[in-house]
Amino acid sequence: MATILRDLSYRYQWLYDGISRVAAISVGGEARFRQLALKGLTIHSDTQVLDLCCGSGQSTQFLVKYSQNVTGLDASPRSLQRARQNVPEAAYVEAFAEKMPFTDNSFDVVHTSAALHEMQSEQLQQIIQEVYRVLKPGGVFTLVDFHAPTNPIFWPGVSLFLLLFETETAWQLIKTDLPVLLSEIGFNVDQSTLYAGGSLQVIQAKK
Ligand SMILES: C[S@@+](CC[C@H](N)C(=O)[O-])C[C@H]1O[C@@H](n2cnc3c(N)ncnc32)[C@H](O)[C@@H]1O
Repeated sequence: MATILRDLSYRYQWLYDGISRVAAISVGGEARFRQLALKGLTIHSDTQVLDLCCGSGQSTQFLVKYSQNVTGLDASPRSLQRARQNVPEAAYVEAFAEKMPFTDNSFDVVHTSAALHEMQSEQLQQIIQEVYRVLKPGGVFTLVDFHAPTNPIFWPGVSLFLLLFETETAWQLIKTDLPVLLSEIGFNVDQSTLYAGGSLQVIQAKK
């Protein structure tokens, strides 16, 4: 069931964007959701930014407002085709996040939104290691994704959402202590902030 609905939402961008818009109400709307992970970051026009698992450019459209050097990476040719149309200001690369075609120390900022919950745990580790590799020393990994609600009122909504649209990897992610995982890989976790009754986490970690 969940995979059918997720596949449908990937096939029809209006459906994906509609679901995101409704889910983002919990943090004050889509524009706010899309910029949660950018809070407090310094991004100049020449800052090298990677939008990892960029999808159809949903967050890339905000990143290009700050930097002229934004690259979106995704494994899905269909999403990338849409991203190229939606946000032509960025460059795009089709690749897997766990094996990125970039040299070491390439980016000042790696951003990822709503993607890590799709990864198996070993894959998640590989991706974080890859992010560490491609970030410049002092560069920042900033992410937003699901988290286990800390306010019980949010559990029914989050559970329903995960049951309808996600797979077991999302349930695994909310049981994972991402700040600890990031630290084990070598990051210094600067900030870890919860939103929407704890159901969303934003983490900023420095290489
Ligand atoms: C839920 S979408 C998130 C898209 C966008 N970042 C957003 O905030 O709406 C997850 C994206 O991750 C991509 N993805 C999943 N696994 C991937 C992998 N191993 N490597 C690269 N991209 C991947 C999918 O193709 C999809 O576009």
